[in-house]
Amino acid sequence: MKRKTYLATICILLFPAILCSCSGNGHKGTTNSNGEIERKVDSLVSIMTLDEKIGQMNQVSVTGDVSAYAERLRSGEIGSVMNLTDPDAVNQYQKIAVEESRLHIPLLIARDVIHGFHTIFPIPLGMASTFDTGLMEKASRIAACEATAAGIRWSFAPMCDLARDSRWGRIAESGGEDPLLSGSMAAAMVRGFQTDDPSAPDALAACVKHFAGYGASEGGRDYNSANISPRQFRNFYLVPYEDAVKAGAMTVMTSFNDIDGIPSTGNPYLLKEILRKEWGYDGLVVSDWSSAGEMVAHGFAKDEADAARIAVNAGCEMDMMSFTFISNLKRLVDEGLVKKETIDEAVKDILRIKFELGLFDHPYTDTSRIRTAFYRKESLAAAEKAAEESAVLLKNEDNALPLDASRIRRILVTGPMADNARNQIGTWAFDGDPSHVVTPLAALREKYGKKIDIVFYPALKSTRDCDESGIAKAAALAGQADVVIAFLGEEAILSGEAHCLAEISLKGAQGKLLEALHKTGKPIITSIMAGRGLCIGKEIENSDALLYSFHPGTMGGEAIIKLLFGEAAPSGKLPVTLTRHTGESWYYDRMNTGRPATGKEVLLDKIPDDAFQTALGNTSFYMDSGSKPLFPFGFGLSYAEFELSGIKLDKSEYALKDSIRVYARLSNVEGPDACEVVQLYVRDVAGSTVRPIKELKAFKRVEVPAGRTCGISFVIPVSDLAFYGADMTRKVEPGDFELWVAKDSDSGTPVKFSVTE
Ligand code: NOJ
Repeated sequence: MKRKTYLATICILLFPAILCSCSGNGHKGTTNSNGEIERKVDSLVSIMTLDEKIGQMNQVSVTGDVSAYAERLRSGEIGSVMNLTDPDAVNQYQKIAVEESRLHIPLLIARDVIHGFHTIFPIPLGMASTFDTGLMEKASRIAACEATAAGIRWSFAPMCDLARDSRWGRIAESGGEDPLLSGSMAAAMVRGFQTDDPSAPDALAACVKHFAGYGASEGGRDYNSANISPRQFRNFYLVPYEDAVKAGAMTVMTSFNDIDGIPSTGNPYLLKEILRKEWGYDGLVVSDWSSAGEMVAHGFAKDEADAARIAVNAGCEMDMMSFTFISNLKRLVDEGLVKKETIDEAVKDILRIKFELGLFDHPYTDTSRIRTAFYRKESLAAAEKAAEESAVLLKNEDNALPLDASRIRRILVTGPMADNARNQIGTWAFDGDPSHVVTPLAALREKYGKKIDIVFYPALKSTRDCDESGIAKAAALAGQADVVIAFLGEEAILSGEAHCLAEISLKGAQGKLLEALHKTGKPIITSIMAGRGLCIGKEIENSDALLYSFHPGTMGGEAIIKLLFGEAAPSGKLPVTLTRHTGESWYYDRMNTGRPATGKEVLLDKIPDDAFQTALGNTSFYMDSGSKPLFPFGFGLSYAEFELSGIKLDKSEYALKDSIRVYARLSNVEGPDACEVVQLYVRDVAGSTVRPIKELKAFKRVEVPAGRTCGISFVIPVSDLAFYGADMTRKVEPGDFELWVAKDSDSGTPVKFSVTE
């Protein structure tokens, strides 16, 4: 079952001495092997009353004053509180739990720390577009240091839900459509949060969520059923969760959706068979917010007591906010519907984490830490670097970018995202203070305000503004400028939980604004900030250059301006396929059909009036959009022109126990020093089941100075080619394969190899 992701190995320098940065992704075992902790847990559980045990399984979101919860804390009715962000308040809560309750058990203090706490990094989809696991680990470490200074010791992240549908608002919180990329990013977050010593005061317990399959919500509508075949589930959807669990994540959260009629919070196959038995997980399983109780609305439990019974017996150990455990478990145990041993196991998993986090020894937060914890210079620098690495250059006609400040007299800055601090930080960034945000307009003024005449006219109040009355003025101002930068996209509220869209093109009159600007004939630079992959076919046409950022966080504006003016070169790559229309489905690792498109299909505007029914080409394509997406997964341009050459393997035939050594050269043939994300894809030509067109098996960010060539290598164990085939066991099927080393998922020439028994 163990699946090893493989990133980079060594970087061989063939030409002038260049230092290439390489990253690796090791899998740690799960936590909790410490015998002393085990003894303490057992001895504590042996003296607990049933009420105290059930209290530990109760998680409460608190707002306001501790006095409202004091009695419940004292009597041990609460095991974990969430949403405190002030260390003084945390200490007040802890004080009652630790000093006034019978058994002095500390609380687990939790919060959603998703892409930073105060210093906000790009949304997880943006972090994925960096393809930089080292940076993800660093960002998560910074987030953990900030959050723990506020007394938080448990974050509900990483979200490992594979997402192939940009209508789903929570794609913003995901690592995108690829299992390897999502899993590598999630594992990096776990390492950054927890470190090797979770008992350190600045360590944060991670929570792998939402287990499982939540990203496949039907129709991209949140909370909806996920219909995933068992094979798709294993070969794609489960991978990122497993990677994060194997990285040592201490907790796992169930998901809201049902799969094939079974809600995750009540699914023993997921929570016991797969998670515990197959993966050997021995941490804590918490429900999602009220998801235990919601099994009643689902129509899976007849009432709340029934919901508690189903959840606990399925393996859900802590109830987040449905109160069904605290209200019903005692009676359920008395009636024999839930075993005492089941409760004991759950409580042990909860207490073990409290011990591992060192909470019994150091329950209180040092309140002085908070004074210097947030928005540190080095944290802001890391956030800027992340925003810089995550921006994806999708078009750069005639080298419209980078802008040359010395040749620009006047710039028109327009669009609703140019100076939109609150929205630039994206969804699930509750603690990010907009007053610390550097918007593109602010960065531009700061850097070039003295040299360039910067005219700011947003034209639209928000990205949803349909009022076109400002467009004519914007076009007139564009006519007087040397270059126009249009900041478009979507506000934070348009993505995230429950914020799904049926139509994912730019909202409001943004498209019309860009069209009018384009008509002026001036160079149009478009910068998009969004929570998902939008359909931007028209905007690409109406722009000379287009830079796409997934909501880039606190330092996003600074990073974008640096990129636009060539202080840095773009290196981000799309973690999701971009389509022209909402109705298209083109994730890159889809199965091949028996009738793949040839590219010669006749499209809607070319269909002759008297066309015969079968005249268009009977292949798999869209008549109104064609046979390819707008941009493939992994795509992103640079200011440098990179060439990959000399791609070869050490052998042409491999045994099952072998590793495949892959060599290539990456040349920066024109342009500035820059970084390319080299991607390695494999296709299993024929299998016992249909295999994906391609699958990402490794990736590596490689810095190459201008004019230089860097040798790169990958080592892929043949075992990484394993999949669940016809008999539903995971194994490598010997046969023919193709391998690409490429700059995206749709380019390059394959090299063939085979695997023998
Ligand atoms: C519901 C969300 O689904 C989950 O991701 C989050 O961690 C919890 N609420 C707690 O806020």
